[in-house]
Amino acid sequence: MSLEQNLTDQERLANLGLDELKQLVGLVSYDDSADPFPVTGWDAVEWVVGNATQSAHFFQSALGMELVAYSGPETGNRDHHAYVLKSGAVRFVVKGAVTPGSPLLDHHRRRGDGVVDIALEVPDVDRCVEHARAQGATVVEEPHDVSDEHGTLRVAAIATYGDTRHSLVDRSRYQGPYRPGYGARASSYTKRPDAPNRLFQALDHVVGNVEMGRMDEWVDFYHRVMGFTNMAEFIGDDIATEYSALMSKVVANGNHRVKFPLNEPAVGRKKSQIDEYLEFYQGPGAQHLALATNDILRTVDCLRAEGVEFLATPDSYYEDPQLRARIGEVRVPIEELQKRGILVDRDEDGYLLQIFTKPIGDRPTVFFEFIERHGSLGFGKGNFRALFEALEREQERRGNF
Ligand SMILES: [Fe+2]
Repeated sequence: MSLEQNLTDQERLANLGLDELKQLVGLVSYDDSADPFPVTGWDAVEWVVGNATQSAHFFQSALGMELVAYSGPETGNRDHHAYVLKSGAVRFVVKGAVTPGSPLLDHHRRRGDGVVDIALEVPDVDRCVEHARAQGATVVEEPHDVSDEHGTLRVAAIATYGDTRHSLVDRSRYQGPYRPGYGARASSYTKRPDAPNRLFQALDHVVGNVEMGRMDEWVDFYHRVMGFTNMAEFIGDDIATEYSALMSKVVANGNHRVKFPLNEPAVGRKKSQIDEYLEFYQGPGAQHLALATNDILRTVDCLRAEGVEFLATPDSYYEDPQLRARIGEVRVPIEELQKRGILVDRDEDGYLLQIFTKPIGDRPTVFFEFIERHGSLGFGKGNFRALFEALEREQERRGNF
């Protein structure tokens, strides 16, 4: 049986169908029988932040997410607060220290707000760990059961770039709101009466920034340890502006739910955006999370109304006759995209619409992308130059260029 036949529990709860997921995130069929490390999809993205209580509010009020579970002193966790937020099939867990001696504070002092765990749902935790270990991966948490009145979760974790980890989670015997130690918690935040149900439905990809010269090592890690393969879009060393450069390659799991572009800086005349990230995050880490929406125009309008800031796209981008010729017809007049600063890219399979926020924390590190796919399984290669020039303008304003 191939895994893509099975919707994940999160997708089922979010009323997402297979056809919708094919469009949203490019889900594909594949035969998992020969996969040494079968991955069903995303489980959760765990963040460490300076103030989880306020970040959880931002994720609800600005990003339209819903609070579903909580762990903290009231549930017996004296070390930190953790808020579990959902939007469609996307699950974020936001953690912030309560006690001055919390190890989360060491992490936060070094790196600021960021992603610490890109957790994946797998059907067989032990098999994955056994394979990962045989391939030389660092197992940071051995497979074990955690149980409460809602059932048993089997979990383990392996290390990836920087101190980021991949928890591997089998939820098939667990019915609780997140994990043992967490209690269900409803939001005290009331959405505006005209607000859409949710602003995004699924996580499309998570980009990792790694040090210069190490991208291929991590591509190899995902191939060897996790059985990932290169996506059709395989980007060479042609991503450069006049001033800075980077290289990027994309790996994906069998059903393409989980996609990891990996970036490394390349030598340019000035400091690249990847160098700036590595400096302020003090090493490799997750750079951006792409959230899939089926109506990017409405999503962007709602986000802007709540004060979310995006990278500006110059009018020249939309007026460029080459761009107009390349993208052809899309579902809305190009002026509608221009009004909102939404980028568009087309390849042989279709097109995509995308936009990038400014960094969401205090450091120039992690940010979001919103993406609406129409057949294209790419990552907006045609926009890289326009995007990087916009990033460089921001970098210059910060004095880091
Ligand atoms: Fe992206």
